[in-house]
Amino acid sequence: MAAYREFKELSPNASAGAKTMNWLENRFPTAFDAYKVHMSEYYAPKNFNFWYIFGSLALLVLVIQIVTGIFLVMHYKPDAAKAFESVEYIMRDVPWGWLIRYMHSTGASAFFVVVYLHMFRGLLYGSYRKPRELVWIFGCAIFLALMAEAFMGYLLPWGQMSYWGAQVIVNLFSAIPFIGPDLALLIRGDYVVGDATLNRFFSFHVIAVPLVLLGLVVAHLLALHDVGSNNPDGIEIKGPGKPVDDKGHPLDGIPFHPYYTVHDIFGVAIFLFIFSAIIFFAPEFGGYFLEYNNFIPADPLKTPAHIAPVWYFTPFYSMLRAITGEMMYALIACVVLGAGFGVLKARLPAIMKGVVLVAAAVAVALMLAIDAKFWGVVVMGGAVVILFFLPWLDHSPARSIRYRPDWHKWVYGVFVINFVILAYLGVQPPSPIGERVSQVGTLFYFGFFLLMPWWSRLGAPKPVPERVTFAAH
Ligand code: HEM
Repeated sequence: MAAYREFKELSPNASAGAKTMNWLENRFPTAFDAYKVHMSEYYAPKNFNFWYIFGSLALLVLVIQIVTGIFLVMHYKPDAAKAFESVEYIMRDVPWGWLIRYMHSTGASAFFVVVYLHMFRGLLYGSYRKPRELVWIFGCAIFLALMAEAFMGYLLPWGQMSYWGAQVIVNLFSAIPFIGPDLALLIRGDYVVGDATLNRFFSFHVIAVPLVLLGLVVAHLLALHDVGSNNPDGIEIKGPGKPVDDKGHPLDGIPFHPYYTVHDIFGVAIFLFIFSAIIFFAPEFGGYFLEYNNFIPADPLKTPAHIAPVWYFTPFYSMLRAITGEMMYALIACVVLGAGFGVLKARLPAIMKGVVLVAAAVAVALMLAIDAKFWGVVVMGGAVVILFFLPWLDHSPARSIRYRPDWHKWVYGVFVINFVILAYLGVQPPSPIGERVSQVGTLFYFGFFLLMPWWSRLGAPKPVPERVTFAAH
């Protein structure tokens, strides 16, 4: 229980505003404390740059999605016979319905744009490293929840792409040995995607996953404020030996409010400008935000010629498609090479070397025994799961890209280009050349992370300054 706090008394001559605030503070001091801890007395590094805007923007998009979602639910019908028409009704007959719907559909893509840029900032400045591992892990969990949220939301308009996209993805689960077919049945609630699927996806999309998302976002921010923000220099501003003013506040920090609230409002204005331009002038965004096939009602008897997920899933979808029977040999070669390296080169105790050999032999046997489709699912899931381990894969002596050897920038650059190529290939119909490129891209993606303990240590880091670098502007 909270300790007893004395009521604060104000002079009878205080203004009505001050008296109201004092009345509230005496009855709800926790809210006032929280405001101080997280806003007016949260000292953030003074050298934040452009990349630090995306956290607040992600919060803004979350709010937009929740508010527009609430209004959509007032008119939407989660019934396979009515869902498509109810969306058309929202678009044509509900006053301002078209705006609410376009805000929500554009918001989904905006969410991923903002979150991908937010994650990339973390990668650039080593924000996932000690002591912010948990901030990163909560972030990765948010990313997973966001993918589930977007996937289930996409079924709701009950268009051709909603239907067949869900059919393809849910069917992937049936590739899991032993439990797969039953698991797919459990997810669908039927033998094919149908009304039962729509109802459960609706329930998860509007309540279960948003609650999880909100909880994770709160945990993400609380964990961040406990350890303090990183910054583009990747050096701490708080802690032993760090300069402080006479009140003990870090000299390299500024209070979040008002300095960064103003900074973020500027970012929000630019974001809303672009967001509105898309909503009013290109809500389908050339078929990338709303796919053309989704303007046709779902027809279980007519499979579209080309089924592709929405753009934000396509890098992972490409990795799934890259895992063919032939590619399995390349993966087996990687496992054998990795085990060989572990046994011959790594300084491991003999017992561990034995474990490595047995594990590799079991992995190869399983890879030969189980269908490539299943390994595709493993690779697709692994591409997200590997992100959770990033804090322990990076062994570079410098945290921020600014002080790493210059060639690290090239590695990050190629990583981004590779990710974009995978995304592009994921929207294209399958082709022999596309398949090869996505296979190389998949190997590069995993190589980037799995070999990081080795390559991140190479080269001499630049001297890291004692204090953050900052030029007033
Ligand atoms: C709904 C999604 C998310 C929201 C609302 C959100 C919100 C925020 C906010 C407001 C901040 C502080 C401001 C800033 O540093 O930009 C932050 C920091 C951070 N976020 Fe997120 N975030 C989200 C998703 C993610 C994801 C997916 C990851 C990574 C996988 C992530 C990793 C981080 C890290 C590492 C920091 C600390 C950055 C630093 O101090 O340099 N976040 N987040």
